[in-house]
Amino acid sequence: MIKCIVSGCNGKMGGVVTKTAFEDENIEIVAGFDINTEKKYGYDVFAEPMDFKGQADVIIDFSHPAMFDKVLDYAVATKTAVVFCTTGLSDEQKTRMVEESKNTAVFFSANMSLGVNLLMDLVSRAAKILEENFDIEIIEKHHNKKIDAPSGTALAIADTINEALENKKSYVYDRHAVRKQRSKNELGLHAVRGGTIVGEHEVIFAGLDEIIEIKHTAMSKDVFAVGAISAAKFMADKTDGMYSMKDIVN
Ligand SMILES: NC(=O)c1ccc[n+]([C@@H]2O[C@H](COP(=O)([O-])OP(=O)(O)OC[C@H]3O[C@@H](n4cnc5c(N)ncnc54)[C@H](O)[C@@H]3O)[C@@H](O)[C@H]2O)c1
Repeated sequence: MIKCIVSGCNGKMGGVVTKTAFEDENIEIVAGFDINTEKKYGYDVFAEPMDFKGQADVIIDFSHPAMFDKVLDYAVATKTAVVFCTTGLSDEQKTRMVEESKNTAVFFSANMSLGVNLLMDLVSRAAKILEENFDIEIIEKHHNKKIDAPSGTALAIADTINEALENKKSYVYDRHAVRKQRSKNELGLHAVRGGTIVGEHEVIFAGLDEIIEIKHTAMSKDVFAVGAISAAKFMADKTDGMYSMKDIVN
């Protein structure tokens, strides 16, 4: 039985992860971390991770960037593997995550769905082939409660494309203030926010008289929870190192 802590347990994703874990006989949730310490699901919830004195194999974190350092401090101090799913982390936080992975096992993926990770593989291959003659733009759509824009996933898709290209592109987020033609060097990222859209990511390769569009739509948040639980199982026996969804889907 894998002992798991859910960080951000009282949020939307924390609730879905809890439900998914309750249905899985190989996972037991031993505690939650959250600024809101209401005991919603039967396990104890701690605002300060270090106040939890029990033992766990792995933490799944769907919380807030403000929670990141506390969760990482706890993971390092207790040698507990951690699966970070929170997006909107700063460059400093991402750098620290990689540094601390020498001391405890760390998993990070801006998108925990298998389908999105396959999309990244497909667009990386398409980018290599289409680099010379196609313009690349990414459109992402999310619900009206989302704070960060563009989404962590859209940025991860852009980074994956850029890694595949011989000539790296510059990201362009907004064209309203500049009156000039699109340059070949641009990669546009566009965020739409509205209603209850769970998550859409579309990559457009626009060439001369032909367009290729590769799109993923998440229909519910369950896909992220299922991915997070798979990652937690994968990480439970790891002691150090940096891991991502690529280690699971490949
Ligand atoms: N990687 C993925 O596949 C994926 C998928 C969905 C959501 N996310 C990310 O997961 C995060 C959570 O998403 P959500 O929709 O559940 O959000 P949410 O706002 O519903 O939940 C966030 C939870 O974190 C808690 N929290 C907020 N600030 C805190 C702080 N300073 N200290 C401790 N706890 C704090 C809140 O009380 C809340 O319970 C977001 O960053 C979101 O972008 C990632």
